[in-house]
Amino acid sequence: MAIISDGEKFKPEKERENLSPQETEYDYNFESCIRPKSFNEYIGQSQLKETLKISIEAARQRSEPLDHLLFYGPPGLGKTTISAVIANEMGSKIKTTSAPALEKPRDLIGILMNLKNHDFLFIDEIHRLNKVAEEILYPAMEDFSIDRTIGSGEKTKILRIPISRFTLIGATTKAGSLSGPLRDRFGIIHKLEFYTNQELKHIIKRTASILDTGITEDGAELVASRSRGTPRIANRLLKRIRDYAIVKSDGKITREIAEKALELLNIDKYGLDIADRDLLKLLIEKHEGGPVGIETLAAALGEDVKTIEDVYEPYLLQAGFISRTPRGRKASAAAYKHLGYKPPSFQQSFLTD
Ligand code: ADE
Repeated sequence: MAIISDGEKFKPEKERENLSPQETEYDYNFESCIRPKSFNEYIGQSQLKETLKISIEAARQRSEPLDHLLFYGPPGLGKTTISAVIANEMGSKIKTTSAPALEKPRDLIGILMNLKNHDFLFIDEIHRLNKVAEEILYPAMEDFSIDRTIGSGEKTKILRIPISRFTLIGATTKAGSLSGPLRDRFGIIHKLEFYTNQELKHIIKRTASILDTGITEDGAELVASRSRGTPRIANRLLKRIRDYAIVKSDGKITREIAEKALELLNIDKYGLDIADRDLLKLLIEKHEGGPVGIETLAAALGEDVKTIEDVYEPYLLQAGFISRTPRGRKASAAAYKHLGYKPPSFQQSFLTD
């Protein structure tokens, strides 16, 4: 079965088996209860929200489905969340799946044929869609139909089967890996940006309130500043710090409690964890700051290239700890300074404070 979740409903037994080893049932319940349901509840991405509100209102006035949407950007910035909000704002249902789950043509055809008018279909990791699935999607997106080939040789016929008028939402961490013809079929293409510390603080306070956990202003500020611009990380840290506060104190998250919990979790003042620091140390200690090819980094760290590119790199790049050059990744002067190394003399001039 290729559908992973159906709207905000709790996952049935069968589908819960699809949770990744890292994602427990508790996490799933936690995620769905803290997830914003409307634009009013959704914090951040203000430019995207404004654009979407106009598109939604126009589609509503024309009684048409919304144009197909493509969201791209690093993981954890809310591509799934904003999609569920859009469907909710349109008063429609959303079916959620991911490209690797659509291995066989019948998986995707089954989903498309079961959609109702104005439903949303969310396909995560859409850059991983196979060629056959992609070709099924073209007429589905353009003409709301599926082409079935019947017979073979000279008797081959293409049967065009109409399907409901739906909106496809594709999400990807790698917009550049999408084929041109698929990308061109999306009417709205938008990048999700990292969140500011102010926005993250707001999200942390909202989540804490839903979880009935007290948090001080400076406690929330500290957690925000360690969350790497990413709401998923902010909420994950909040959950861990909340456990710490319950066990070691009275359950309230103060700045002091958050500091101690983060120290125990090995999260430093920029929100970097051991894996991030290992990557920077590898560049600095073993390769004089680089450039180092991504394959070399991946092999030395025992990670796959995709994890480094999708999970570690975006924030390290954004925070200015590494740069990407045609010959590989380089550590910046800020990375040397943060980890307590003396930058090579040619990099010293980049130090600002
Ligand atoms: N939880 C996760 N992302 C959020 C967001 N953008 N706004 C509010 N709560 C969130």
